[in-house]
Amino acid sequence: MSIKKIAVLRGDYIGPEIMKAGLAVLAAATKESDFSYQIIDYPFGGAAIDQTGTPLPETTIQGCQAADAILLSAIGGPKWDQAPNRPEAGLLEIRNKLGLFANIRPTKINPILAQRSPIKPEVIAGTDFVIVRELTSGIYFGQPRSQTADAALDTSTYTAEEIERIIRVGFQMSQHRKQHVTIVDKANVLATSKLWRQVAEKVSRDYPTVTLDYCYVDAAAMKIISQPTFFDVIITANLFGDILSDEASVLTGSLGTIPSMSSGSTDPSLYEPIHGSAPDIAGKGIADPISMIQSIEMMLRESFQENQLADQIAQAVQATIAAKVLPPDLGGTASTQVVTEQIIKNLKG
Ligand code: NAD
Ligand code: IPM
Ligand code: MN
Repeated sequence: MSIKKIAVLRGDYIGPEIMKAGLAVLAAATKESDFSYQIIDYPFGGAAIDQTGTPLPETTIQGCQAADAILLSAIGGPKWDQAPNRPEAGLLEIRNKLGLFANIRPTKINPILAQRSPIKPEVIAGTDFVIVRELTSGIYFGQPRSQTADAALDTSTYTAEEIERIIRVGFQMSQHRKQHVTIVDKANVLATSKLWRQVAEKVSRDYPTVTLDYCYVDAAAMKIISQPTFFDVIITANLFGDILSDEASVLTGSLGTIPSMSSGSTDPSLYEPIHGSAPDIAGKGIADPISMIQSIEMMLRESFQENQLADQIAQAVQATIAAKVLPPDLGGTASTQVVTEQIIKNLKG
């Protein structure tokens, strides 16, 4: 079997703390398996600015392009907030350069953690949806953009082609789920959203068994907390998906557990927690590593078809949660290291 190349971008603040935890779980889970891999570190984000002056050096982009999968941990933070080229710009650039237009962010309630949710247990029971976020266009990338002391400009653009390819990803996912797609938009105001609806209507004809509906983003923000079981697959534009995925994450108990996958029409895909670098808790050893560990689980499943290894990790995380070995964001007192060690112990049952 070939040795898989995994490009690792360790991130800033809590980024390296949870990456270390994730890689320890990956090493333990794969130790006695046929899966062999090589970790290759590349500078990225704030750390890369410090080392090279830019958040996404050319060697990093090339290394990522040559890898079989990419693991990325959160970047950014106060140290670089005034930098001319911020870490966040590097994140947008890597998504863009690798053509990673489809970002999948799951929201599934774990019954054991239901009492951690700010929403009533009877409201969230059974919640299981994914947000399919468009990741390489929209207002994040539209030109022109400018800023002076008196005025600033951002541009929101979508081509029909960009809309169609992300909507197809969502419809395809829904076929393995509850066959319910909701397009979240602002079609009562925005031209881009009106185009989204036209394209969705067209694409839906290829998926006659899938129920399609539309929800304005303001109403969706409300419905995610008032009736989260309504949703199965939410497909939405870059900015709306960013906002709604942080909102959805807290239904499950904490932002610190949510993984994501970003993919394009060619390999490699990129896996990263949806949260940021949490400067407020960095260096304390208490960051929740579950978002990174579940990102690695997703990588094993989606990039390497290693379902058995992925299932083992999922089971070990679940056993650790059931044993109430929980970090502070989930109401416990366990450190990143203790949670990680417990997950590793639980790997082999
Ligand atoms: P954040 O997601 O870093 O933190 C929001 C809150 O959630 C904080 O209270 C934090 O402590 C908590 N939190 C997040 N992840 C956690 C974890 N694993 N365990 C425990 N608690 C966790 O958002 P922010 O504070 O708005 O942003 C901080 C920096 O991160 C900014 O520079 C931002 O641009 C950047 N950011 C990066 C990414 C990324 O790299 N993908 C994503 C979002 C934000
Ligand atoms: C995310 C983050 C990024 C985004 C930032 C850091 C640029 O919030 O991945 O959700 O807005 O996409
Ligand atoms: Mn975000």
